[in-house]
Amino acid sequence: MRLDSEQQSRLDRDGYLFFPSLFKPDEIAVLLNEVPRLYAEHRQENVREKGSDAVRTNFAAHLYSAPFARLARHPRMVEPAMQVFGEPVYMHQFKINGKMAFDGDVWQWHQDFGTWKNDDDMPEPRAMNVAIFLDDVNEFNGPLMFIPGSHKLGVIDAAHDTSTTSYPLWTISHDTIARLVARGGIVAPKGPAGSMILFHSCLVHASTSNLSPWNRVSVYLSLCAVSNHIRRFKRPEYIAHRDFTPIECLPDDCLLKDYDVALPWKNGTPQDTSLAA
Ligand code: SIN
Ligand code: MN
Repeated sequence: MRLDSEQQSRLDRDGYLFFPSLFKPDEIAVLLNEVPRLYAEHRQENVREKGSDAVRTNFAAHLYSAPFARLARHPRMVEPAMQVFGEPVYMHQFKINGKMAFDGDVWQWHQDFGTWKNDDDMPEPRAMNVAIFLDDVNEFNGPLMFIPGSHKLGVIDAAHDTSTTSYPLWTISHDTIARLVARGGIVAPKGPAGSMILFHSCLVHASTSNLSPWNRVSVYLSLCAVSNHIRRFKRPEYIAHRDFTPIECLPDDCLLKDYDVALPWKNGTPQDTSLAA
């Protein structure tokens, strides 16, 4: 899938693009049906909400679940990132965020590139998130919020939040957020399951807790230009991958046909030998 020039200029101006209902219900069903099995597994890739068994984030399912391994190679998700960076991309991070009914907790205001730079030594913000909704997203179940245009400001000062998130995250102060919102406002793209959002790695974003009776399961592919691969291996490999192999896309119908995919972590996470001292 290619972005046209109008979409490219909107992405440049606002820092995100929203594609309502890009994936069809039968494609989404294949993914959503796999989530309870993945969330029930007791492995370190499942990070649970504080004081509850609900999964907040599942990491790296593309390495041990066939439907998600196919999604990780989906041309509707991967090709726009290759187009924007003008080179192949690899998977820096892959997550299925639960934001489950009643239990899903907040994500503080942050830029992803802040964490990727500070923790992983990613050289430039030449990586982006491509998110897909597996549930309908509405104003009640904790939609992702963006401050349009905030990606133009580069890396904003942030503090290391080690307590309120799935993994330590560099989060932005409330004073700074108030100034940014006065300038750019807040948007929260909402829509049916199957909608996709593409957003710049410096775009400031957050989400509130989910007090509604509706789950808000979404998948995030963090795709990085291969030449911009991370230089520091401080975080566990299931959070910040070190396999910089370019992603090769499958055909567009890959969620509905059993294309062969490798599942190297199917029998468990390999021992991480590359953690920095
Ligand atoms: C994220 O910022 O990585 C996730 C936010 C969310 O799922 O609401
Ligand atoms: Mn984020």
